[in-house]
Amino acid sequence: MLNYTWSMDYSVQNSVLDDHHKNLLKLFNDAYDLIISKAPVENTIKLISELKVYSIFHFSEEEKLMRAANYPYYEEHVKEHKKFIEDITKFKDDISEQTSDLNEEIFLFLSDWLIHHIQKTDRKYIDFL
Ligand SMILES: [Fe+2]
Ligand SMILES: [Fe+2]
Repeated sequence: MLNYTWSMDYSVQNSVLDDHHKNLLKLFNDAYDLIISKAPVENTIKLISELKVYSIFHFSEEEKLMRAANYPYYEEHVKEHKKFIEDITKFKDDISEQTSDLNEEIFLFLSDWLIHHIQKTDRKYIDFL
């Protein structure tokens, strides 16, 4: 069971970006529910696509603010964003009904990545933005 609830431990002290992160966590919870309930694979793919689109939007907003602030760790941060988009794209393309355990495993890897990214990488920009 996956149920991410946003808390102050996730806060980047910017209400817009905090709202984005809350939306991302919700999409992750919803996608996980579809994966473990073995919902029709088209539904899962649709939600993973939404998650991807929303991630691209969020990352680009974050990158805009980092550029405006001349954030010194911009390049390495963007690299992490790019890697995530590559991974989630691959996951979306590979999803299949035959490998539902694997779907769950890869998805948990992606969600761990996101949590770690918010709590470690994103929170590093707090003092700069
Ligand atoms: Fe973020
Ligand atoms: Fe980020």
